[in-house]
Amino acid sequence: VKELVLTSARWLEGRGVEEARVDAELLVASALARDRLGLWLVHDMPVNEALLAQVRELMRRRGAGEPVAYILGEREFHGFAFRVTPATLIPRPETEHLVDEALALLPPVSEARPRVIDLGTGTGCIAIVLAARRKDLQVAAVDVSPEALAVAEHNARVHGVQVAFSHADMLEHLDRSESYDLVLSNPPYITSGERSGLQREVRDWEPAQALFSGEDALHFHAAIAARLPRVLNSGGHALLELPALDGAGLVRAKGLGAGHGLSARFVNDLAGLPRVLVLSKP
Ligand SMILES: C[S@@+](CC[C@H](N)C(=O)[O-])C[C@H]1O[C@@H](n2cnc3c(N)ncnc32)[C@H](O)[C@@H]1O
Repeated sequence: VKELVLTSARWLEGRGVEEARVDAELLVASALARDRLGLWLVHDMPVNEALLAQVRELMRRRGAGEPVAYILGEREFHGFAFRVTPATLIPRPETEHLVDEALALLPPVSEARPRVIDLGTGTGCIAIVLAARRKDLQVAAVDVSPEALAVAEHNARVHGVQVAFSHADMLEHLDRSESYDLVLSNPPYITSGERSGLQREVRDWEPAQALFSGEDALHFHAAIAARLPRVLNSGGHALLELPALDGAGLVRAKGLGAGHGLSARFVNDLAGLPRVLVLSKP
C-alpha cells in the first residue's frame, strides 16, 4: 500500500498535479474503503490486481485534471460531508467564514424563527449548515441549475434538515419574494477575462455557470445590493462572498451599501483578505 501511494504520487506529480501526495493518499484510501488516516493502518498490506486496476483508473482521472472531490463525489464543509458532482461548485474553506459570520449575527434562539435565504446554493452547503446548526431558522435556497438543486436536495435529506429549495434566477426570485433577516450568497464572481489564468481543475471541470459573472466581478453583488432595501427586514444583514483579489476595493469603487442606505463592513479570511461583504439595514 505504501509503495502504491508513493508511486501514484510521483506519477501525479509528473502530470502537474499540485498536491500530488495528498491526492494519491485520498484516492488509494478510497479504493481501500478507508479514510486518509486509516490508510496507514494497512501501509504494509500487499495489494492485488483488482485493487491496482481500480487505483490506476482513479489516478488516470486525477492525472487528466479531474478534481479529487468529483472523483470521490464528496467534500467536507463546516464539519459536514456534502455530495458534489460536476454540476456543483466544490465548496471552499473560505466560504466557511460566511457561515461563521451568519451564525454570529443571528439573534439568540427564540420563537421568532428568523428567515434566511441562500442565493446560488450549489451543493446547498451554506443553507444546510445553517439549518443544521440552528433549528429555529426558516431557510430557503435558490439555484438556476436544476442538476445542482437535485444534489442540494439530496444533501439536505442526508443531513435531516428542511430547506425550501426553488429553481429560479436569484434576482427574479428576490423581486417576487417576501423579506428576510439574512440574505446569503457566494455568487459567481470570476470575470471572463480571468478565465485563462484559472487552475485547470477549476477552468475545465467546475461548472461555468457557478464561476463566471461576465465582465463585472461584482455583477451579482451589485444587483443583490440594489434589492436589499426592500428585501431585508430592519436589523437584517446580507453576507456576500468576495473575490480574493481586491474585493474591498471593488466594493468601494461601486459604492455598494452607502447608495442603498445600508452600512458596509468586511470579514477577513485567514490570510487577512476581506472575503465577505456584510451589508446591514439599520
Ligand atoms: C460560486 S457557486 C456557489 C455554490 C455554493 N453556494 C457554495 O458556496 O459552494 C454559485 C452558484 O450560483 C448559481 N447561479 C449562477 N447564476 C445564477 C442565477 N442567475 N440565479 C441563481 N443561481 C445562479 C450557480 O449554479 C452556482 O450553483
